[in-house]
Amino acid sequence: MRNRMIAGNWKMNKTFSEAVVLAEGLAKELAGGTGDVDVVVAPPTVDLKGVAEVIEKEEAPFALSAQNVYWEEAGAYTGETAPNMLEAIGATYCIIGHSERRDYFGETDEDINKKAKALMAHGIVPISCCGESLEIREAGTHVEFVVDQIKKDTAGLEIADPAKYVIAYEPIWAIGTGKTATADDAQEVCGAIRKTLVEIFGEETAAGIRVLYGGSANPSNIAGFLEKEDVDGALVGGASLKADGFADMVRSAMA
Ligand code: 13P
Repeated sequence: MRNRMIAGNWKMNKTFSEAVVLAEGLAKELAGGTGDVDVVVAPPTVDLKGVAEVIEKEEAPFALSAQNVYWEEAGAYTGETAPNMLEAIGATYCIIGHSERRDYFGETDEDINKKAKALMAHGIVPISCCGESLEIREAGTHVEFVVDQIKKDTAGLEIADPAKYVIAYEPIWAIGTGKTATADDAQEVCGAIRKTLVEIFGEETAAGIRVLYGGSANPSNIAGFLEKEDVDGALVGGASLKADGFADMVRSAMA
């Protein structure tokens, strides 16, 4: 019903040539195919073209994602990238609302909602991130916090094909800290996200939307997350920067 997804967020790592080497390594690792698992890599914007070329040349079984987008089509927005530019370069996914963008660059749920709409208008699949801070987790209000983010981030979206909208639950306290949420922690929130999606979009659409877990996911802990009913894969940071380890995570999802 829902294909699993393993997505690698390279964040601000890898120069152009390093990104090409990593993509080539991953293409080699995954040359045998990825079964029903959708694999996605998200290099920095300036590396997208290089990775797109590797995917084409090697017929690599993974898709290309950007890490950010602006919602306008064109114009005087220095430093930004428009959805049609991503489309033209071969990006079929785009991460939006990552906590690092929310925290360091002041992105709001309203911005993220506009970005989702702009991407979907171009047929690019948003991977929309949500997740609570340690403070919120310790206050015990994490479920309602994330549910509120989901409601705002999806406001007014029309999802014709549920495979084309992806959510990533990334508790901020687990990102890059080596401190993972437990699989039960992930299920608690991913289950609440699914319930919210049912309320907003109805059973059928909600059943087709992938909800990923992210936050110190790695080859040794991924299997535990994937066992959970509402966890459909992972958005991987640090562990996506090594082709062999990331490919191992894909293989775990194929099992
Ligand atoms: P880490 O896997 O490095 O914790 O990063 C997770 C993340 O933020 C992916 O978007």
